[in-house]
Amino acid sequence: MIAAQEDDLDRAMEVMRSAFDSRWGEAWTRRQLSDAMMMPHTVLQLIAENGNAPADGETAAGFALSKSIAGEVELLLIAVRPEHRRSGLGGALLDDLIARANENGADSVFLEMRENNPALALYRQRGFAPVGRRKSYYRLSDGTFLDAVTFHLTL
Ligand SMILES: CC(C)(COP(=O)(O)OP(=O)(O)OC[C@H]1O[C@@H](n2cnc3c(N)ncnc32)[C@H](O)[C@@H]1OP(=O)(O)O)[C@@H](O)C(=O)NCCC(=O)NCCS
Repeated sequence: MIAAQEDDLDRAMEVMRSAFDSRWGEAWTRRQLSDAMMMPHTVLQLIAENGNAPADGETAAGFALSKSIAGEVELLLIAVRPEHRRSGLGGALLDDLIARANENGADSVFLEMRENNPALALYRQRGFAPVGRRKSYYRLSDGTFLDAVTFHLTL
């Protein structure tokens, strides 16, 4: 992996560690993220506290990871550090992803979410609708399970 990508990976992992509650088992390992970034058509977007792309050496306040295959974009992960939430950064990442999907001629965006995730409000606002459910997809740290809900946005 080239140096710039390694740097982006480090910045995304810093966000990953602070953004995901360990109860839910949603956070990816560095290895999982690095493997995903090696795949073609995978995009890691980083956002700084001020809403722009982070400058050299600046930490990221949030990131989104997505992949596109045959007209379909899948949002794999989206996260914003707890101290920067509710200031529009998650929405900005999602809007950027949707704009790029439109520019690239995609016709759909999919994402999958743990059933009780408050991110639901954000996805609904952007026009995503539930289209499927995977029973007991997430195994929680206390040994219980939660469903995953698949959401779809038609572009
Ligand atoms: C989901 C997440 C990325 C949202 O990031 P954010 O920067 O806070 O999002 P925004 O500020 O753009 O929120 C836009 C709107 O979405 C809704 N929203 C976002 N988070 C919400 C929450 N926790 N509860 C209720 N509504 C919420 C609100 O309507 C909000 O607008 P408002 O603040 O004006 O009311 C962030 O909460 C996060 O990192 N969560 C942990 C990781 C995660 O679960 N990711 C999703 C699964 S991969």
